[in-house]
Amino acid sequence: MPESKLNRDGRDKRVLDLYEQLLEIEQRLIPTGLHVFGRPSQGDEKADLLRLIASFDRPESGARAITDLVAESLELLQRGGSFADLAVNDRERVDSLVHEAMQIFVATGEDAAEIFLDDKANVPRGESAGVFALLKDVSEKLKTNNELESLVRALRGEFIEPGPGADLVQNPSILPTGRNTHAINPYSIPSPASFARSKVVADSLLDRFRKEHGAYPQSMALVLWGLDNIKTQGDGVAQALWLLGVRPVRDALNRVTQVEPISLAELGRPRIDVVMTISGIFRDLFSPTVQLLDKAVRLVAHLDEPHDLNYLRKHVMEQIAAEHCELDDAAVRVFSNAPGNYGTNVNFMVMDSQWESGDTLGDLFVVRKCFAYGRDSKGRTIEGREARRAMDRALARVQATYQNIDTFEIGLTDVDHYFEYLGGVSKAVEKRAEAKPAIYLSDSLSRDVKIRSLEETVRLESRAKTLNPKWYEGMLKHGFRGVAEIENHVSNTFGWSATADAVDDWIYSEVATTFLLDEAMLERLRSLNPHSVHSLVQRLLEANGRGYWDADESVLERLRDVSRNLEDQLEGVV
Ligand code: BEZ
Ligand code: MG
Repeated sequence: MPESKLNRDGRDKRVLDLYEQLLEIEQRLIPTGLHVFGRPSQGDEKADLLRLIASFDRPESGARAITDLVAESLELLQRGGSFADLAVNDRERVDSLVHEAMQIFVATGEDAAEIFLDDKANVPRGESAGVFALLKDVSEKLKTNNELESLVRALRGEFIEPGPGADLVQNPSILPTGRNTHAINPYSIPSPASFARSKVVADSLLDRFRKEHGAYPQSMALVLWGLDNIKTQGDGVAQALWLLGVRPVRDALNRVTQVEPISLAELGRPRIDVVMTISGIFRDLFSPTVQLLDKAVRLVAHLDEPHDLNYLRKHVMEQIAAEHCELDDAAVRVFSNAPGNYGTNVNFMVMDSQWESGDTLGDLFVVRKCFAYGRDSKGRTIEGREARRAMDRALARVQATYQNIDTFEIGLTDVDHYFEYLGGVSKAVEKRAEAKPAIYLSDSLSRDVKIRSLEETVRLESRAKTLNPKWYEGMLKHGFRGVAEIENHVSNTFGWSATADAVDDWIYSEVATTFLLDEAMLERLRSLNPHSVHSLVQRLLEANGRGYWDADESVLERLRDVSRNLEDQLEGVV
């Protein structure tokens, strides 16, 4: 092939890749503003929410994914095909029709929306009726909520009607809000649907690692949270079971109390050694599940299988041989805080800038989280026994760390908990394994499972939220609190520098350009909340000082100026 043709093909591919990435950012659902207690969602935000709800199959409501209906009626997709595999321009065509249909639905109602789709996309009204009936119900329930009334009734000590706790997109029956959120029966997780869904996630995760490293990871560290496993009915737990290669077994009362091995033939790959750090909330809410996870580890450690197909057994046997220890000491994999304790404190240390080297953060994580839970080989319950050495040993083998993200409402930079957990465990691995682990997140927000590296996720979150005018203008409508939210996002982003050095220079540069070097924006922020602006400048200077941001001296000079002016303002010496 002539060289110019090759160059052209290469260029076309790069343009297409870029286009795919832009589409990914554009289509990412983000909260555009804070929830105001007692106020229902409206307008564009409501249309966006409905669109996302409508893009999943809901057999329980007799509704098919609207994107699939449109793509099939336009003969772009065969029934049973995957929407994600469509060409970019076809996907865009479908999305734009769906977007318009949602606007029509919100403005005029289901009849007009059904007629529009029939007219423009050949979707027979009978086929879209199910999804619009669901949207009508959701839309009605979104119009009101009982938040204020319920709060007042709760303060009076009255009964508050219970309702399921979940993400609106995953489970629209959480509406109306303002009910007493209830968790789930811990014996019911993982649900069969969650276990089936999680196979795809675990496989994709292993595929991605294998593509990047040429082999399966022998050992992975997982973070499991309580609320996430409530919302998904156990996705995090199910993913851990799949990685180990076991399936949950229900007893006569339909409670998940046992596990059984999936045969190596069926699994078609080795069993992965999994180190689980569970939050204090998970430990408290899911006591039977903690036992189940520990049971799964011990079961796999006992399977008489070749070591290259059962990495957990391999590691346990190696440790027993090297240290002449008991299996009870070598097979500890479920760790949490000491009883009654919560959190890693890594976030507090980062936020207060009170740390010298990254090792301090990883060590703090282990100090807080090195308490073992489960049952020993004599059947005695282990309820938060200090097991620092066991955790150090287990983390020293880890090649990849991972956490499941399951909601559009809260992502990597919205709260400091993701970096305190996933960042904290990754930092602990880095020192103990003497190598940085690969860090992954899954995205079960989209219908098609996506595994992203930490760096990719930080880029996406920064583009879709922190640096996105739609997001920050939404925040700024909340005045003082909005500026604090912007500062929070930047500090949480910084948390990913501190724990994993996963933030590109351009992200800090764009933050500086957008919020501090633009005079008009700076003035707006400063008049709303000078305290948060001061913290924001300090955080950027800290990012530079600690070597995470290679900034131009001229930019730093201007930031120092801004900082001095703010200090004068805050001291009232303007
Ligand atoms: C949890 O649900 O387990 C959790 C929630 C917030 C922070 C950390 C953990
Ligand atoms: Mg850097």
